This record gives sequence, C-alpha cells and structure tokens, in this order.
Amino acid sequence: MSKDYFITTAIDYPNGAPHIGHAYEKVLADVITRYRRIKGQQVYFLTGVDQHGQKMQQTAEKEGVNVATLAKRNTKKFVKLWETLGVQYDGWAETTAAEHKHCVQAILTDLHAKGQLYKKGYKGFYSVRQEQYLTEKDRGPDGNFGDEWGEVVELEEENWYFKLSEHAAWLKSTVESGAFGILPDFKKVEVINAIERAADTDLCISRPKARLRWGIEFPFDPDFVTYVWFDALINYISFAGYRKADGSSLPDFDSLWPADAHVIGKDILVPAHSIYWPCMLHAMGFSDEQMPTLLVHGWWNIKSQTGEEEKMSKSLGNVVDPAEIAEKFGVDALRYYLVRDIHSGKDSAFDLSRVIMLFNTELANDLGNLLNRSLTLTKRAPLRVTDYEDEETQALRKSLAESAARYQESMDRYEISIALGAINAHVVHCNGFLERNQPWSLAKDESQADRLAACLYHTCESCVHLAILLGPILPAASEKILGQLRFAPEQKLALADLKWGLLKDGHDTGKPKPVFPRIIIEEE
Ligand code: MSP
Repeated sequence: MSKDYFITTAIDYPNGAPHIGHAYEKVLADVITRYRRIKGQQVYFLTGVDQHGQKMQQTAEKEGVNVATLAKRNTKKFVKLWETLGVQYDGWAETTAAEHKHCVQAILTDLHAKGQLYKKGYKGFYSVRQEQYLTEKDRGPDGNFGDEWGEVVELEEENWYFKLSEHAAWLKSTVESGAFGILPDFKKVEVINAIERAADTDLCISRPKARLRWGIEFPFDPDFVTYVWFDALINYISFAGYRKADGSSLPDFDSLWPADAHVIGKDILVPAHSIYWPCMLHAMGFSDEQMPTLLVHGWWNIKSQTGEEEKMSKSLGNVVDPAEIAEKFGVDALRYYLVRDIHSGKDSAFDLSRVIMLFNTELANDLGNLLNRSLTLTKRAPLRVTDYEDEETQALRKSLAESAARYQESMDRYEISIALGAINAHVVHCNGFLERNQPWSLAKDESQADRLAACLYHTCESCVHLAILLGPILPAASEKILGQLRFAPEQKLALADLKWGLLKDGHDTGKPKPVFPRIIIEEE
C-alpha cells in the first residue's frame, strides 16, 4: 500500500495486564488514525507488544510458568482490550515473531560488518528493573543508587556494544534542525539538554545467555541475546517491512517509512527514543530525511484519597484497570475522558468522578439532549429547506464554521482536548438556539412554519456535522447518531465534504433513542 501517514505506538510490556496508561496511548493513536482518515489520508497504524527482556523472564520464574506461555497469555489481554476499546490497527507487532527476529539479526549482522559493534568486558553495577548498566553519574546525592533503579547488582561480564557515541554530534544537529522531529516543542528542548550527557557512552546491546535466555540470539555470537530495547525499537521498521524475507506479507517498507508519529510516553523519550533510536537508524544508513517524528504524551497519575497526585504503580496498588472502567461505564465514557481530560505532552490525574461528570454533561446532557430534541421535533414532518433567515440562523452557522475550523486546527496539532472543546462549544450554542427559538411553541403557530422549519433544519444539520467530527473519538456513537438522523451517504464523508446543506429538502429523520444514557451512581 502507499500511504500518506504512518503512525505507531510504543509496544507494551505484556508483563501483567494493561493499565490506563497503555489504554490512553492506544486510544490516542486510534483517534489520530481515524482523524487522518476523515481528512482523506491513507493511514497505516502499527502497535503491538514487547515480549522479551529480563522482566518477563523474572515474572515467569516467579509465577512458575514458561516465559513464552506467559508472554502469549498476557498478550491476549492487550489484544482483547484493544478490541473492546475499538482501537483498530493495521499492523500488530509481537517481538517474538519470526519476521521480527529475522530483521533484528539482519541489522546486527549489517552493523557488525560496518564496524559499528565491538565486544568488551565490563565490571560494575546493573539495575535489574531498568535492565541497564549504571555509572557513577547515576548515583544520587547521597552516593547511593536511587529507588528508581530498583534492585542493583554487581556484575562482571563481556558484552557487545554499539558505537552510539560516534553519532552524538550528528544527533545534536539533526534534533536542532528539526530533521528528527520531536513534538510537542517543549520536549525537543528536553532532548537537546540530554544529548550530551546520554550520548557520550556507547550502548551495551547484548546480554549473556548465562543470565538471560529470553531474547533474540546474536547471529554471530550465540552466547548472547539482544538487549530488549535494541530489539524492541526495531519493531517500528521490522513490522513495516524493513529487510523482510522473500515472500513475506509485511508492508512495502519504502512506501511506509518514515513514521509520521511514533506515539510514546515521556518516560521513554530519553534515552531510548531520542538517543538510541535515531543513532541506530543513522548507523544503519538512514538519511536525515528518513528520520521519524516522535509524538510524546504525558503521564496519567492518580488522585490519592487525600487529593494529591501520585504515580500509578503495582506496588502502591493504585493501578486503574481500563477493562473494568469500560465494563462499568461504557467504552464511550472511557475513550472520551482519556483524550478530553489531558493536554498534549502534559500529565493529568485520573479521576473517576470526572469520567462520569464529563460523560453526563458534555455527552448525555449537551449532545444527547440536542440530538433528542432535534429528532423529537422533526418527527412530525420531513425536514424542509426554506429561505427563512434571521440573526439566529446566521449565528448558528457561524458557530459551526468556527467550531469546525478550531477542531481541525487542534486535531492537526494533536490537541484532542481542545478539538473536543470546540465540538462542545457548538453543541452548547445549538441548545441555546433551541431555547431562544422555542420550536415547540412555534409549532403551534401556522404563521411561523418557515421559521420552525429553518430552526429544525439548523439543529439537525448541525448534528450531522457534529457526529462526523466526533467520529474519530467516538466511532460507535457517531454511527448511532448518523443512523438516527438517517444520514447515509453512499460514501463515507471526508472533512472537506462537510459543507452546509448535507441534509436535503424532504429528508426524513429517524426516531430518537438515547445514545449517551446518563450514568447514575447509586449513593453508597
Ligand atoms: N516496552 C517499552 C516500550 C518499547 S517501544 C519500542 C515500554 N513498555 S510499557 O508497557 O512500560 O509502556 C508502554 C507505553 O505506555 C509507553 O509509551 C509508556 O510511556 C506508556 N505508559 C505507561 N504508563 C503510563 C501512564 N501512567 N500514563 C501514560 N502513559 C504511560 O515502555
């Protein structure tokens, strides 16, 4: 396929069940994908799971199961959740797949042949949690390795290294020039500040099999497996068809690459995605024009009982389960909340009362009410296109045009929350319009027939536009709304087709049925 837009997410560790942070990232990428499609672009969306590494081996040992079985079993939980949440991807990356292994080994062989790898002995400290060697610079002010490193052990072993430091100067200029894109802008500054510190040492890319067997074997040194980050980052190109085997059904790499957005969380920006990854690509021979763009999102924390924001973690036992929220409050409520209550690149605190509040106000009360009133009032007779015009009808069309423009401009900047605010602004305008025009009273006065027709036409037409704009965020609800409006064009509409006058004279709308039934919480 040829594409206009290639989007990926981080591949999740299936080390347990998916949590709300994983869900946010996948929903965000799904929203962007669907938006690009209604813009008329061809999009390829790749996501998946990062199945190797020491953490997986440790969990398997703890649970007394085979590590491959554990990876498979947990992977299913992710696949199932994406299906539940309507996250629709085109490519699925599992790092234990033979195609991926083939690509990683081909890259290792290439880099070795190019003199980019060397073997060296190491004696020092190693963080088991972060799966990384530590240097003196990693010690805290008290001289100890901080809690973020988890268990730290002393090691003496030989390993393979990638000459990362050879690419440091190039990296700095590529980030500064913008050839390697980092969004939002304030994240780019963070990377520039980190390059000198992070790119001055070479990267250890192997682990001795004596200590870790769960990984991709080095093609030219079978006593070693590949470091999990080196393996995982390659998923973005292996599953896009880079160095694929003959007869493989993977995509055609040259028509997909480079990625327009690698959607990742802020915790894996430095060093993995902003230092290791571009240097790996550069060493493989990728040009500046072939560098991907990173789209960095913030972190979902959680509000504690005392109202403070704290990190979600298994050990604190405060991890939010997205499957449970979707089951209790519905997929629409969860998808809407996850992209409405956070700003691009910033953190937010997960708050269940806001999941419910945003659904009940903006969806049930505002949009649901608008649709319900428009359809109920239109039930009696088909819609009529009239010449009737007054300040109110003009203002409504202006409001829609402004909202649609703000929506598009915000979606292009990945500011989904602002785009949803723009949709809501028009919904609120329409409800005010109904209040002011009182069509239910106009219906009793024959002489107001044209004004009534114009009034109903304006809100029904608005509902069509609003449903299409909302489509990328709430695809199922959008279809329901269009179904009730009986708006079924032969071809799916693109944003450019959203011109006033989609509903034709004599259009018959359907029966209203609540699309967003209010969430009612029983008092305990
Ligand atoms: N396996 C690596 C990524 C490899 S990409 C080549 C990894 N996995 S992860 O499961 O720990 O995280 C997956 C994604 O979820 C990351 O982008 C991470 O930032 C994101 N999130 C994990 N917890 C999060 C929150 N609490 N909030 C928002 N996103 C977070 O890292």
